[in-house]
Amino acid sequence: MSDLVQLAGAGPSTELIFGDWYPALRASELRAGRMTKALLLGIPMVLGRKRDGSLFALRDMCPHRGIPLSAGWFDGERVTCKYHGWEFEPCGGRCEHIPSLTPHDTLEPTRVFAQAFPCQQRDGYAWVYVPEAGAGRSLSVELPPVPEVPKFSDRYRTAHLVADLPCNVDHGIIGLMDPAHGPFVHQAWWWRSRASIHQKAKQFEAIRDDLHRGRNAGFRMVAHAPSGNSAPYKLLGVYGEPITTTIDFVLPNRRYETIRCGPKWFASLTTVTPVTPSTCRIDVCAAWNVFYHVPLVKPIAMFFGKRFVAQDQQTMVEQAEGLRSNPALMLIDDADKPAKWYFALKQARLKGTGDHPLREPVTLRWRS
Ligand code: FES
Ligand SMILES: [Fe+2]
Repeated sequence: MSDLVQLAGAGPSTELIFGDWYPALRASELRAGRMTKALLLGIPMVLGRKRDGSLFALRDMCPHRGIPLSAGWFDGERVTCKYHGWEFEPCGGRCEHIPSLTPHDTLEPTRVFAQAFPCQQRDGYAWVYVPEAGAGRSLSVELPPVPEVPKFSDRYRTAHLVADLPCNVDHGIIGLMDPAHGPFVHQAWWWRSRASIHQKAKQFEAIRDDLHRGRNAGFRMVAHAPSGNSAPYKLLGVYGEPITTTIDFVLPNRRYETIRCGPKWFASLTTVTPVTPSTCRIDVCAAWNVFYHVPLVKPIAMFFGKRFVAQDQQTMVEQAEGLRSNPALMLIDDADKPAKWYFALKQARLKGTGDHPLREPVTLRWRS
């Protein structure tokens, strides 16, 4: 966690959505023979990569007497606890060896398990499935697919950005979908200025997940020609093809943006992941084939992308100061309507009702 975030202190907690995939770490941080600690939904975890390349995520706690497994050793195959040397196969969590046992003991080590979480690599992240409390070890029955940045060609480039936020995941998410902060938080000559504010009207429709009682329900800002006042979209105009943008929000925490321009495309998946009930982290993974052969596009995109995310981060650090006293807040129409839908969808998911706040497509209007 950055110093910035620690300085600010955290605002109030919120209820978390368990039973889904969350990105825990960049997969590049995981090398065979090394363990890396992570905090996900308030759960201390230890992650690593076995010699065969497979990733694992364990609760960072020995089932024997509770010392963090990360304090011990990992040889690329087994995690050994520092305290009494119990050895665990880390993908399934099964104990393979208890050094203190003698032939007189009847305890079968393989009936002991450290808690292992399903862990998969996708788009450069180690995604971890965090089950509902009490789901036990029977969860191997049909997990939802690991989220992924959509890609529309074989060759593409990717980039990643990350920022810690000192607020709970709800504030991170509604900040992400907030259409009215752009001209104030993201003022820059290359993006847009306050003077360019104008009225917008965008159509939204429901994304339903009736099959799973709305577990990955959300809403879509229907494909539209992007706002003419932003420079990156003007750049895409060089291809001379019509440009469309689609933005999806899907529970629990995912924002997909897809920009298509003939055969050229840019797509991103932004997730806001609860680190604890009162702090979160934004991860952005972008993939594109636009300007594939133009040199320096990635460093330039990274430079502007980082500034953009840093502006949101700085704003939320300041906001966290106000949130610490847990004040009553306002959500206004139409600009905060997506935030209202998010809260309704989250409640529907937590209660398992499958209700959706969007009965039919609607047009929202705001100035930005
Ligand atoms: S606490 Fe881990 S082996 Fe005893
Ligand atoms: Fe923003």
